[in-house]
Amino acid sequence: MLAARSARERAHAPFSQFKVGAAVEDEDGQVHTGCNIENATYGLTMCAERVAVFKAISEGASKLVRVAVVADTEKLTPPCGACRQILWEFCGDAELVLANLTGATERLRMSQLLPRPFDSSFL
Ligand code: THU
Repeated sequence: MLAARSARERAHAPFSQFKVGAAVEDEDGQVHTGCNIENATYGLTMCAERVAVFKAISEGASKLVRVAVVADTEKLTPPCGACRQILWEFCGDAELVLANLTGATERLRMSQLLPRPFDSSFL
């Protein structure tokens, strides 16, 4: 969670001003971070969660076991739909910690956010 909080400070969010930080822990205990990176074409914007997952995978992590997401919102910010799909594919039913900057936290399982996922078991 601390890693996600400091990653948030590196967010590139000039359009929304909505900064998000994420951290994913792999099965070796290594933590990979991400922040949202916006783009002037808007649609190319990448969420913090996907940056963290893609960085982890590109650095050789295989299984991701824990996810943290930090934003400056009173109502804790959950991953968007696209990120839920990506998180499910690489983290499965991992623990997810949501947090804000004033110390509120909530622990969830991915299956609570994405109850009937499509994944490679269908292929
Ligand atoms: N965003 C994230 O990075 N993660 C979330 O969980 C929700 C939304 C970003 C995308 C965009 O840069 C900004 O927040 C506003 O939607």
